[in-house]
Amino acid sequence: MSIKTRITELLGIRYPIVQAGMSWASSSSLLAATVSKAGGLGVIAAGPMRPDDLRRSIRELREITDAPFGVNVALYNKRAAEHLDIVLEEGAPILIASQGSPRDHIGRFKQANVKWLHVVAHPDHARKAEAAGVDGLIVVGGEAGGHPPPSGTSTLVLVRLIAKSVSVPIIAGGGVVDGAGVAAMLCLGADAVQMGTRFLLTPEASLHPAYKQKVLAASVGDTTLVGWRGLPIRAVRNDFTAEYEAAERDGQSREFLEALFGSRSLKMAAFDGDVEQGKVEAGQCAALIDELVPAATLVERIAAETREAMEQLLTK
Ligand SMILES: Cc1cc2nc3c(=O)[nH]c(=O)nc-3n(C[C@H](O)[C@H](O)[C@H](O)COP(=O)(O)O)c2cc1C
Repeated sequence: MSIKTRITELLGIRYPIVQAGMSWASSSSLLAATVSKAGGLGVIAAGPMRPDDLRRSIRELREITDAPFGVNVALYNKRAAEHLDIVLEEGAPILIASQGSPRDHIGRFKQANVKWLHVVAHPDHARKAEAAGVDGLIVVGGEAGGHPPPSGTSTLVLVRLIAKSVSVPIIAGGGVVDGAGVAAMLCLGADAVQMGTRFLLTPEASLHPAYKQKVLAASVGDTTLVGWRGLPIRAVRNDFTAEYEAAERDGQSREFLEALFGSRSLKMAAFDGDVEQGKVEAGQCAALIDELVPAATLVERIAAETREAMEQLLTK
């Protein structure tokens, strides 16, 4: 079985299912290799990786599968230049760039025939990225874990708006966990879906077990936005988010809030397992997930559910 869209054709994958690049959780080869081998697009998140670790993980992935995969590079990252060089040197087929402009780098990626997918959060940025020559866009709405759009605009609105604004293919994300969600995004004009929080809750995600338990236990209203206005993160409520929100209510200064925000990290929760003081980044859709599922099973299951959801729409 396969599901054909402009994205599956562009990237050479079987299903329009992308495992989102997630710092720590997919900053190694296992999750990405498993998803790619199963017919989705697995993505290694370079964010916290030392250059040598990124290079080794790309090579490890290639030993597991020859299916296409992506590498996510945040362009503002202090190691971005090294990460981009490694993507080219190792011949990774797809780059997923976030938080920055493609303009300075896209030329050499085009020359090397690496597909450039660009993460955008506003129709103006989408049009600019398209004009710069990107191969596709990743549009992630306000429900998302990690960094949702600064405007807070929901996936439903943002995806539709951008689908109407550009002609390059779109991968939509934020709040999707199953085939019903994939079908909904395809109806809105997307050509594939990117899922983060759903793939966090797999045995293959490289996370402390306490992190997975915390996300699994989250229900409606259990995630919140913290961080200085303009660039917040969505995380599961814990002692840290309560302290941050109390400081905001008390009218603490921007400097105080920034220092508090900067004193905690995703690593504290993801690697050390301190899920009360660290940042447990996850999306609203945590409320829709009630079990850990092996990543390959998840890809097959979501693909089957997508077909079923689309067929049901026609027979209703
Ligand atoms: C734990 C975690 C880490 C993330 N790290 C990154 C990252 O390193 N780079 C990036 O572009 N997006 C990152 N994201 C955002 C995801 O790529 C994706 O856009 C988001 O998870 C989609 O929304 P969902 O969680 O509702 O599926 C992260 C998200 C989570 C939950």
